[in-house]
Amino acid sequence: MNLTLALTGASGAVFGREILRALEADERVTRVHFVASENSLRVIAEELGVSGRNDLLENLLGAIPAKIVQLSDSDIGAAIASGSHPSSGMIVLPCSMGTLAAIANGLANSLIARAADVTLKERRPLILCVRETPFNRIHLRNMTLAAEAGAVIYPCIPAFYNHPVDSTEMARQFVCRVLDHIGLPQAGAYVWKADE
Ligand SMILES: Cc1cc2nc3c(=O)[nH]c(=O)nc-3n(C[C@H](O)[C@H](O)[C@H](O)COP(=O)(O)O)c2cc1C
Repeated sequence: MNLTLALTGASGAVFGREILRALEADERVTRVHFVASENSLRVIAEELGVSGRNDLLENLLGAIPAKIVQLSDSDIGAAIASGSHPSSGMIVLPCSMGTLAAIANGLANSLIARAADVTLKERRPLILCVRETPFNRIHLRNMTLAAEAGAVIYPCIPAFYNHPVDSTEMARQFVCRVLDHIGLPQAGAYVWKADE
């Protein structure tokens, strides 16, 4: 699989770090094009204590990744901006209401918005892990617009029935569900068994 992953400026940087870890470790994944929005950097610094764009992946993962390539959100000439570039799909985790609005309305004014636009026009999977609470009517309309265009609205709402011991485990299990949804079932995923 060859995936695009975007992190945007919604709360939930821990989800972004956990999906990066999972994709880097997954042998079925050959290449990940990774884009962090400018505003995601502020949230990552706030929530994970990781600052700056330089060495972002190394700082998040603790090592230089082998298959994840970071692209600038202003690089609208990157490969993922074109439908001719083969891709298995795109995940935005976490997805801010601002990025949701750009995608839902086809603005294509940043690499993240353009890559999502391309993903929709090529009828490839696009998973938007939106995070905000409460939702106003604009958010709700934009989620409907994006869903009608083919995106999957996959809100950052973790489960509690797996008794996560901390926020990292909570995020890890959420990421397992997202990856399962895009065709990458994870070995460590919690599976509900009614009789236990
Ligand atoms: C600490 C922090 C937390 C934020 N949490 C959210 C959030 O959960 N959802 C959201 O839509 N925006 C949130 N924002 C606001 C976005 O970062 C802001 O709207 C930004 O313009 C989004 O830009 P982007 O979509 O290009 O990343 C947060 C901002 C900060 C600084």
